[in-house]
Amino acid sequence: MGQGVLSSGFARVDGTLSCEGVPLDRIAADVGTPTYVYSAAMVRDRYTRLDEALAPLEHRIHYTLKANSNAGVLRVLRELGAGVDVVSGGELFRARKAGFEGKDIVFGGVGKTEHELREALEARVMLVNAESEAEVRTLDRIAGELGVVAPVGLRVNPEVTVDSSHRYIKTGEKGAKFGIPFDQVAAAAAAAATLPHVELVGLDMHIGSQLFRLDPYLDGVDRLVGLLEQLRAAGVNTVRYLDIGGGLGVSYDDEETPDLHRFARALVSRVQPTGLTLLMEPGRFVVGNSGMLLTRVLYRKFSGGRHFLVTDAGMTELIRPSHYDAYHRIEPVAAPSGHMTADVVGPVCESGDFLALDRELPEANPGDLLAVHDVGAYGYVMASNYNTRPRGAEVLVDGDRYAVVTARERYEDLVHLELDHPEWRKG
Ligand SMILES: Cc1ncc(COP(=O)(O)O)c(C=O)c1O
Repeated sequence: MGQGVLSSGFARVDGTLSCEGVPLDRIAADVGTPTYVYSAAMVRDRYTRLDEALAPLEHRIHYTLKANSNAGVLRVLRELGAGVDVVSGGELFRARKAGFEGKDIVFGGVGKTEHELREALEARVMLVNAESEAEVRTLDRIAGELGVVAPVGLRVNPEVTVDSSHRYIKTGEKGAKFGIPFDQVAAAAAAAATLPHVELVGLDMHIGSQLFRLDPYLDGVDRLVGLLEQLRAAGVNTVRYLDIGGGLGVSYDDEETPDLHRFARALVSRVQPTGLTLLMEPGRFVVGNSGMLLTRVLYRKFSGGRHFLVTDAGMTELIRPSHYDAYHRIEPVAAPSGHMTADVVGPVCESGDFLALDRELPEANPGDLLAVHDVGAYGYVMASNYNTRPRGAEVLVDGDRYAVVTARERYEDLVHLELDHPEWRKG
């Protein structure tokens, strides 16, 4: 049993696709294309659903910036009381700029530099999730230099079987680059317990993304709770947080999304007896379905027996179809009519540049506006300037109002770091 029909911020009003109270063609006419449009109401709805489901547990939701780090979206989440999860100095900078304080921030990531660790400690983050014993030792040294005690979590690889849709989004199986291999965790924890400038306050995992089955999650939680018991038996009593990462699946097509209340019940029975605070780091679940990409059809052609719709957005705006074989619904913004089967392809000079292949969709022609669904997560954040293409604008809709929250890049933005007169240094 899924969690039912999740409310959508997008619907047809008098035939035209709209976001909350704003017709998407209005936004395209005003802001141009390609443009990402986010529904604030939907972000709030998703966050609140999860927060309410987890209410029986002492918990904190740390929205993961990597899914969508737009300042407008972050503001919406901060107003709801969310914390954040960051994985780079850049994300830490963004989070703080958006008003999150150190106590609201979990810092993770498989390859943090010393510089980033220093920044995290200087920002007094709530938790640094370390991915190796060597990183714990580095943290101890830096914390000693700064005269602080670093709050450390160990990101454990629970080595469970993960059922993600693509191997690139599995992170918690044996042999992954992420986390501390399960049989090395006890040693890393013992080392942490002896170091003077770190305090082991958390156990953490993140097993993958776009997860629909609860068993891998719960298997991972069981393994973490088992570790906690081992640590307590060995006299380590400092652990306060159980961070179970992100990964909740969302529907891009007709997938059945996890039942949050069932999930929460299964967590309560496992986590409540430990007395730990549960942390979650959802990204896709909060923002995935809350964004649309508006793109204009530039050309239509027929080649080798196939119809092509060439749009002004492609892999530079949404890399998920070509990188993860991901499916995104596409439909015209105007009232749909007719029927065609086409490859929807971008303008980038790559054969791998497509938004959809062999897709059945309503008839579309040059000049038509298309909406690519569910681009709120891993859309703009994975956009690139390949082919020296300026990144599109981001628009936040809230009720019957909308605002450009990221301006469209200009050509000058693309070259402003390049030096016309570089200073040559002797090699
Ligand atoms: C450590 C960590 N936490 C949370 C997430 C968020 O995952 P999702 O967007 O699937 O919820 C990720 C995604 O890669 C991650 O690496």
